[in-house]
Amino acid sequence: RPKTTIRTIRKLYAEGKPIAMMTAYDFPTAAACDRAGVDMVLVGDSLAMVALGHEDTSQITMDDMIHHSKAVSCGTRSAFQVVDLPFGSYHTDEATAVGNAIRMVKEGRAEAVKLEAGRRGASKIDAIVNGAGIPVVGHIGLTPQTAVALGGFRVQGKTFSNAQALVEDALALQNAGCFSMVLEAMPSLVAESITKLLNIPTIGIGAGSSTSGQVLVLSDMVGLFDRFTPKFCRGFADLGPRMVSAVTEYKQAVRSREFPAEGIHTYDMPAATEEKWR
Ligand code: KIV
Ligand code: NA
Repeated sequence: RPKTTIRTIRKLYAEGKPIAMMTAYDFPTAAACDRAGVDMVLVGDSLAMVALGHEDTSQITMDDMIHHSKAVSCGTRSAFQVVDLPFGSYHTDEATAVGNAIRMVKEGRAEAVKLEAGRRGASKIDAIVNGAGIPVVGHIGLTPQTAVALGGFRVQGKTFSNAQALVEDALALQNAGCFSMVLEAMPSLVAESITKLLNIPTIGIGAGSSTSGQVLVLSDMVGLFDRFTPKFCRGFADLGPRMVSAVTEYKQAVRSREFPAEGIHTYDMPAATEEKWR
């Protein structure tokens, strides 16, 4: 499969083919996504919760994200790699935002960065895209980094004025230079209006079927994260319980000395050496 680039993404969008994005957090998850042929992998800061066990995404650092992004890049051959800029890394001023976007490319091997920001992030996005030449994905709707200010993990755009605000955010992000944007947890009708209004692809998660593409959190959709499952997630596999039963079987096999099996999982000495040794 040839390398997926921004041009590939634009082509899929132009042809009306839904774009498949999936999160990845390390080498094996990235390799699985890449082999499955997803168009874009996202090193989401959701890794704070699903890979590191944090309660939310607010404590994850640039160093944490870079560490995981590097591993993901080792497993990604074809898929286009987008990496989340974490909370606090782009909020203060443009120079800091650009500096951290550059670090994510140089150290994390990101091809694009994603910022959870609407209008208030426009000047930073403009600086990253047009100043540093780094492609940016926007993210509006339910923005987990600011879940506290939203009053929790809640669906956005349910009131008329809130839906209007989302449309304005989407337009601001497009004008700032985003090449794509994630629409998270909003009524399908709002996501459809935004998708029709824009001339860049929207990637939905809990935003209905009219968006230009979809993204899910890998751990949620394969059953490796059971603290809670959002309504918008579909379980495509149930690996968590399978992993538990594999380890349970292993433990029993160890206790019963059924594992390791002599002659199968073991090494022998050459016959002559063994003779002498005995
Ligand atoms: O962090 C993440 O996984 C994300 C996706 C849910 C879009 O931002
Ligand atoms: Na994220």
